[in-house]
Amino acid sequence: MSEKLLEIKDLAVSYHGYAGEVQSVRRVSFDVEKGETVAIVGESGCGKSVTAKAIMRLIKTPPAEIKDGSRILFKGEDVLKFDDRRLREYRGGEVAIIFQDALAALNPTMTAGKQIAENILHHVKMTKKEAMAQAVELLRMVGIPQPEQRVKQYPHEFSGGMRQRVMIAIAFACNPQLLIADEPTTALDVTIQSQIIDLIKKLQQEKGTSVIMITHDLGVVANIAHRIVVMYSGKIVERGCSMDLFHHPKHPYTNALLEAVPRLDLNNKQVLASIEGTPPDLLNPPKGCPFSTRCRYCMEICCREQPPAVSFENNHEASCWLYFLKEAPADAPFVKEGRV
Ligand SMILES: Nc1ncnc2c1ncn2[C@@H]1O[C@H](COP(=O)(O)OP(=O)(O)OP(=O)(O)O)[C@@H](O)[C@H]1O
Ligand code: SF4
Ligand SMILES: [Mg+2]
Repeated sequence: MSEKLLEIKDLAVSYHGYAGEVQSVRRVSFDVEKGETVAIVGESGCGKSVTAKAIMRLIKTPPAEIKDGSRILFKGEDVLKFDDRRLREYRGGEVAIIFQDALAALNPTMTAGKQIAENILHHVKMTKKEAMAQAVELLRMVGIPQPEQRVKQYPHEFSGGMRQRVMIAIAFACNPQLLIADEPTTALDVTIQSQIIDLIKKLQQEKGTSVIMITHDLGVVANIAHRIVVMYSGKIVERGCSMDLFHHPKHPYTNALLEAVPRLDLNNKQVLASIEGTPPDLLNPPKGCPFSTRCRYCMEICCREQPPAVSFENNHEASCWLYFLKEAPADAPFVKEGRV
């Protein structure tokens, strides 16, 4: 039976600045089950990292505001209500995050081994020597050759891919139940990217870790995600299992993302953001459907009212007014196919 590890309910995060309120995340809800990989996919600025930071309790309030009614439950416990002690156990111990820029995330003045050992000692009682020995094993586990030597080296002595492996070793130092990987491969070249994704997948399978994989790259998602959440303009516009989303997209935005490449081949790298126009300004998001400013099927109601979510088979959902029309537009076969 599936078991929910993380439940995000009606999460809304805004930043208050001179220009006004940037509504970065606008009532987002999704779950992550034990041992599963959920991908959050979307173009730049759609709220992926803010969602990740909220889960890690890394949002500074102020200037940000986590709106009333937002809930983040980890194994049923309310993360937004954790005190400092509980937060220290949670962060790095139960939930770990890796970022795109490993060089910025690592401490340049500390050896890789010391940084891994510090994280272990932060959460587990053991001697420094034991922690260092474990650091060597972790470097070995993430595929760094000659870990006994490498453990004594500083971040700048590692290549980009190897540095990301060090970050993964730090993240796995305390055997987290949830790993959040925020665009972990964006800065790396293609071959190294797939090696890092394979490594995360392997660790996820071996250790039963749940993973939230944040990316704007559909190629990355195809190989690793069980389920995909498509975000646009601070909202979730579609969600479903990986196969359904790739082969039977229901939302015009997802469809456009998939159409943006000449051929849908799950082994091909497909980069998003080749859709005409830009996402709306979150200082002043559209009143109706967030995609209305770019959608070729946009109707009058789309500009006026937010579309409700429509459910399809297999927990597949999309929010679009097209599913409320009697007749699907002739040029939108994905809507016809998706009728329930
Ligand atoms: N510290 C901040 N102060 C003000 N606005 C912010 C801050 N952090 C994020 N935002 C705004 O929130 C929105 C969502 O940002 P977020 O970083 O979550 O996007 P993203 O989906 O991760 O994009 P990317 O793919 O570029 O990383 C953006 O409009 C961004 O400008
Ligand atoms: S609700 Fe309207 S604007 Fe939004 S995706 Fe559907 S058709 Fe396009
Ligand atoms: Mg981001």
